[in-house]
Amino acid sequence: MISPLKKKTHIRLDKVSKIYVEAKKDLTVLNQVDEVFHKGEFICVLGKSGSGKSTLLNLISGIDVPTQGRIIISSDNQDISISDLTEKDRTLFRRRHIGIIFQFFNLIPTLNVLENVTLPLELNGNFSIEVATSLMNRVGLGNRLETYPDKLSAGEQQRVAITRALVHNPSIILADEPTGNLDAETGNLVLAILLEFVQDFGQTLLLVTHDHEIASHADRVLQMTNGKLTVIENSVN
Ligand SMILES: Nc1ncnc2c1ncn2[C@@H]1O[C@H](COP(=O)(O)OP(=O)(O)OP(=O)(O)O)[C@@H](O)[C@H]1O
Ligand SMILES: [Mg+2]
Repeated sequence: MISPLKKKTHIRLDKVSKIYVEAKKDLTVLNQVDEVFHKGEFICVLGKSGSGKSTLLNLISGIDVPTQGRIIISSDNQDISISDLTEKDRTLFRRRHIGIIFQFFNLIPTLNVLENVTLPLELNGNFSIEVATSLMNRVGLGNRLETYPDKLSAGEQQRVAITRALVHNPSIILADEPTGNLDAETGNLVLAILLEFVQDFGQTLLLVTHDHEIASHADRVLQMTNGKLTVIENSVN
């Protein structure tokens, strides 16, 4: 948990709207959202299916861009308006600064565990077996480096995916229902691993979940309803 005195803005949403146009009908998923996430903060986002939680993460990661408004990320003492970058620059920014964890793990089936985990390093041009293996040892899978994803349990796959999201030392972790496909016990184990990493490395963690027990660990809990984000719980006043 971050001290209220040390709050530093990391991600700022400035009147962010996302409107999908489908069959000539506009669907406003985010409606002029203003919000600030602080460095090292753990934020949980709740909300019903279809309320726009994944859309929000996709905008912050630069996978998609807002229809209106800006998303500003402070990094290396610079404020970068990610929503104003080109697609190529957003991809480069994401590779360097953001780690993403998905509900269905999204490991590459044709690559073994070590190859999956080192991929972000390779894309950034700083390949290191040592970094990858030390993280894999930490998640208890140091002896499975040559294994292919289809030979791993769901919990093991998510531990690999967490390692892959963290290996390039990003400052932001976006996790979209990371325990949604795991039983309760495995989900708790995976969450504990993720929170331990975040505690040690100080990343800002935005985690989407339907699980109120997970949300109880967060610094702040936000709810997405009718295109707006509202705070429903705040342990850092
Ligand atoms: N590319 C797209 N084109 C059109 N509509 C989209 C697109 N992506 C998402 N939507 C719509 O936007 C709304 C929000 O979707 P989103 O995936 O963000 O919801 P969610 O809160 O993550 O839901 P879930 O909990 O089911 O994952 C949904 O109604 C969805 O159908
Ligand atoms: Mg979603």
